[in-house]
Amino acid sequence: MNGVPRHVAIIMDGNGRWAISRGQPRLAGHRAGAKTLEDVLGWCREAGVEILTVYAFSTENWKRPAEEVNGLMKLLGLFLRNKRAKLIRDKVRFRVIGRRSDLPEKLQKKIAALEAETATFPHQLVVALSYGGRAEIVDAARRFAALPPERQTEAGFASCLYAPDLPDPDLIIRTSGEFRLSNFLLWECAYSEFFITETLWPDFDHATFGRALASYAARDRRKGGHA
Ligand code: FPP
Repeated sequence: MNGVPRHVAIIMDGNGRWAISRGQPRLAGHRAGAKTLEDVLGWCREAGVEILTVYAFSTENWKRPAEEVNGLMKLLGLFLRNKRAKLIRDKVRFRVIGRRSDLPEKLQKKIAALEAETATFPHQLVVALSYGGRAEIVDAARRFAALPPERQTEAGFASCLYAPDLPDPDLIIRTSGEFRLSNFLLWECAYSEFFITETLWPDFDHATFGRALASYAARDRRKGGHA
């Protein structure tokens, strides 16, 4: 038995379908998804999951219609403003991984301020924004090339990633039934366990979260070794 995963990463998929099935605009699905994220963060703290990483906006998501992209950026700004006090009260360290210089400048400033304010807290919420696993590897490779030869190892490469101090995710959850990684944490997922649920992200509930943790606990994690 593995116990509780230290680091859970989530591909929050299905917001659009959730909204469309209700005859609502896609942004309504993202708004509902932001509420789910808040709930899941609470469940992680209760269960003893130390780090929650979520895929909120990929390098490919810039191709979506401007209205949806702008709406998502606004939603992120609101999340930072409205959840700031709660994150501080609950001692959650907020951080962002991704090409943050792609983000609107105002949002970058808000992110940097909240990261600084929460930097010493023990729980972590890591939000992947303008994030792509391949982009992260390319960005890391640039830094890696400048390392002295004796540091050009796997550990040396990992030290060049966006958040080098984070352990790899133990469990990756994907909602909405797709069996894809969609360019998420490509380097970090080497030994992660996967849990896929048909549930759309806005409907992801405490029971499904519990099933994901129970499924993880029952996995045989050999990481290439023997039992
Ligand atoms: C994928 O669903 C989801 C996204 C592209 C955005 C995720 C954003 C949130 C959950 C809310 C904002 C996050 C924060 C941190 C406040 P989709 O639109 O691809 O759904 P579909 O596959 O049904 O179309």
